Amino acid sequence: MKITVIGLGYLGATHAVAMAELGHQVIGIEPNKQRLESLASGELPFHEPGLDKALVDVIEKQRIVFKADHDEESREAELHFLCVGTPQKPGSNEADTSYLFSAVEALAPYLDPQSVVVGKSTVPVGTASELKQHLDSLTGFDSYLAWNPEFLREGTALEDSLRPDRIVIGVDNEHSENALRDVYKPITDVEQTPFLVTDIATSELVKVAANSFLATKISFINAMAEIAEVSGADTVKLAEAIGMDDRIGKLFLRNGIGFGGGCLPKDIRGFMARAEQLGVGSAVSFLGEMDQINQRRRARVIDIAKSQLGDLTDKKVLVLGAAFKPDSDDLRDSPAIAVANQLALSGANVVIHDPMALERVPEVAPNLTPEKDLVTASEGAEAVVLATEWREYKQLDPNTLKVSKKLIIDGRNALDVENWQSAGWKLVALGRNVHQ
Ligand code: UDX
Repeated sequence: MKITVIGLGYLGATHAVAMAELGHQVIGIEPNKQRLESLASGELPFHEPGLDKALVDVIEKQRIVFKADHDEESREAELHFLCVGTPQKPGSNEADTSYLFSAVEALAPYLDPQSVVVGKSTVPVGTASELKQHLDSLTGFDSYLAWNPEFLREGTALEDSLRPDRIVIGVDNEHSENALRDVYKPITDVEQTPFLVTDIATSELVKVAANSFLATKISFINAMAEIAEVSGADTVKLAEAIGMDDRIGKLFLRNGIGFGGGCLPKDIRGFMARAEQLGVGSAVSFLGEMDQINQRRRARVIDIAKSQLGDLTDKKVLVLGAAFKPDSDDLRDSPAIAVANQLALSGANVVIHDPMALERVPEVAPNLTPEKDLVTASEGAEAVVLATEWREYKQLDPNTLKVSKKLIIDGRNALDVENWQSAGWKLVALGRNVHQ
């Protein structure tokens, strides 16, 4: 099928490449010149395992082209996927949906009445119906608009797109449903992937509800960590024990400095804002508490550092990790950056290391000192904070670091406690009382 993918950020670039991998003919539309040129030359503008090779592969097979704007070729597309960002509005909890409206304005002159416009962006419930009204007023016909939320995780984005655990579509007519069934046929035929057809409002809600649930799960175990720290309990064991109950499940129960990234934090805030607008704010006001628990865990690391070192002024602290999670170079709302910044604000001289995301650190946190070489970064440090659980940190030999004081704060409960302790380190872990 011929399709367009509009907006080639994280979601759009992955979706475009995945669709081309499945055999579709893809036109990728991206107004950002630098991003467009990078993709067109086969260079992924962000780190995502496997997606780089897949991009080169689909370019070589001539299944994908990249353009800054629509042209007559867009008219031939059977489906147009909207993948633009819906970031948090500055100074507000609300999601900014303006890029979606701009995207349909640019598409409208090239939209064939039989083509289906499919929103994939995460939106406040009700956005699709506003968008359709806007689109219809621009085209002068009753356009087809469907919603198809995306559940991909950074680090496994391509795999999540090619082998999703479910495909959810929100439609209000058979024509849209058939087009979406056809486009995903290469997946559903092979993988037997559950294919859920819902009304449009439900499909919009599925994504924010799923992300809110995940955020709540993480915050729940982080709340337990607060209790464990004052009662002598061990949150890691606690999570293992409650996670063995199938009704609870063991995933997303890793306590630490909490959730960040481009989705979970903004989605729970956007959800609260939309619920307020709908007059049912109290239904999800608990998400505000989840947000607070998450923020408190970040601050906890600074309290631990102060309790171990006293005044932090001019003390060198090494932060291991900058990305919001391993296998990603994404710094959006990264707990690691937040912790490093708070340490710097407390007067510490913060050196930060990350295997993948270091280049972008000065843009978002100019007060931190990025250092590529781990051993150099460690020289003279009075404390080390593990903030992102990259494999290379988990496998790190504690003896290679040239610190002046062997103190490590494990913000992700990722380190082998015995290994560090037997190398003479004092290890303080969030939600556990492991230090002697
Ligand atoms: C998330 C959703 O998982 C995905 O389905 C959706 O499409 C986009 O948002 P992502 O943002 O890539 O994906 O990251 P995710 O793996 O969900 O992790 C989010 C944050 O939670 C990370 O900062 C991670 O470190 C943290 N986390 C995760 C925990 O603190 N504890 C856990 O147990 C799991």
